[in-house]
Amino acid sequence: MSQDSNEPQLPRRKFLKSGSALSAGAAALGTTRVLRGAEPQENNSETVRIGLVGAGGRGSGAVNDSLTINENVELTAIADLEPVKLEALRKSAGSRHEGKVKVANEKLYSGIDAYRRILDDPDIDVVMFATPPGFRPQYIAEAVDAGKHVFAEKPTCVDPAGYKICLSAHEQAEKNGTAIVTGTQYRRQTNYKEAIKRLSEGEIGDIIAATMRYCSTGIWFRNRKEEMSDTEYQIFNWMHFIWLSGDQIAEQAVHNIDTMNWIMGGPPESAYGSGGRFTRPEGSEMWDNVEVDYVYPGNRLVSFMCRQIPGTQSDNSNTIYCTGGRCTIYGGNRGASLVDRDGKEIWSMKGNIGDAYKQEHKDLIDSVRANKPIVELKKTAESSMTAVLGRMAAYTGKNVEWDFATNESTLDLFPKDFDIKGARPEPEFAIPGKTKLV
Ligand SMILES: NC(=O)c1ccc[n+]([C@@H]2O[C@H](COP(=O)([O-])OP(=O)(O)OC[C@H]3O[C@@H](n4cnc5c(N)ncnc54)[C@H](O)[C@@H]3O)[C@@H](O)[C@H]2O)c1
Repeated sequence: MSQDSNEPQLPRRKFLKSGSALSAGAAALGTTRVLRGAEPQENNSETVRIGLVGAGGRGSGAVNDSLTINENVELTAIADLEPVKLEALRKSAGSRHEGKVKVANEKLYSGIDAYRRILDDPDIDVVMFATPPGFRPQYIAEAVDAGKHVFAEKPTCVDPAGYKICLSAHEQAEKNGTAIVTGTQYRRQTNYKEAIKRLSEGEIGDIIAATMRYCSTGIWFRNRKEEMSDTEYQIFNWMHFIWLSGDQIAEQAVHNIDTMNWIMGGPPESAYGSGGRFTRPEGSEMWDNVEVDYVYPGNRLVSFMCRQIPGTQSDNSNTIYCTGGRCTIYGGNRGASLVDRDGKEIWSMKGNIGDAYKQEHKDLIDSVRANKPIVELKKTAESSMTAVLGRMAAYTGKNVEWDFATNESTLDLFPKDFDIKGARPEPEFAIPGKTKLV
């Protein structure tokens, strides 16, 4: 990778105690069979082999989506920290997708370096990452080094240090012809696409302001098992540790934030926010509500709210206020609409999130086969970083500029001396006025 002064430069995080983590990568460039043809191959139907890293809920879902929508695609390796997850996924995917799950026993990898075994496997073309988000930037970067095409779940980073790793990986992927598709499925949902097209064509005038909300009644909490080290426990109960999940604003509400960046044409200039916690269990670092005012270029304000509090009213929606009316885009299957200033409906359309989840996998495989790799990491990293910006503002109680957060901030949440068997400091949640802006 070149080291131009404009390029983000950041030392790679170290995961493995062995020195093998980064060594095999660059040497393996060129091993991705379906990509490396000199000519575009529009009608290429060659078998594409997938390795999954993170065999939990979404990993299973992503495999199912890809194997359902794509022909000549095979799952050939599975990696997870927990051995029990491997066989369970092989069995459930195998029963749903006869002939498409060909995972030999020796390609069931467990442990903290399991992801690396997948990256080192020359038979794998595409790697899917569905681990907790804290691992994502480094894993993506190593996958690009190893010449693997990538499907990466959202968010792709949980701090400015991870954001910079993503920018570098994006740039390298573009140079290498490596596809990176991300789990921001709403970008592929037809009612979102149609609503945003109409907005961008000015059907209801200029955009003035917007609200985005991801409010629900709670999230899981996994109790510690006796034999677990601190690090193992935190990874197991990852949602509640900010270095792993980024808090609700990054882990979940990044969907709304990504939609807003899409509508506004890029990330905001600044954020000012607040929030706190009423109902989180002891030992959780998460807040249960965050509210942020984002200012986008052109003096456009987006008022954001996310909440996970039992007994409250759920709402997953994006409402865009324009000079000639209002557009509402709901999460899930609830559709989208445009109304004029009097509230009269101009247009509406139902949504289908299931189709969107599958479409991202079709787009990835098609792009790999045609040797026209989609590289969309930067956009998703920007949206993830926008969530981080809002969290930084809320946690510290300060107005935070995008330029500061992306250029000057030294915030790097990943443990410096990562050790899967190691101790971790006592969990600590942010307190505005006390938590420092770094
Ligand atoms: N796009 C969406 O709508 C959507 C929906 C749900 C989850 N997600 C995202 O998917 C990711 C996974 O979420 P989930 O709900 O499946 O979580 P999960 O806890 O169900 O699964 C995570 C799995 O990763 C494994 N794991 C943890 N660290 C690992 C490591 N370093 N190496 C290998 N395996 C590791 C765990 O053992 C577990 O099996 C998250 O980033 C989440 O935000 C996206």
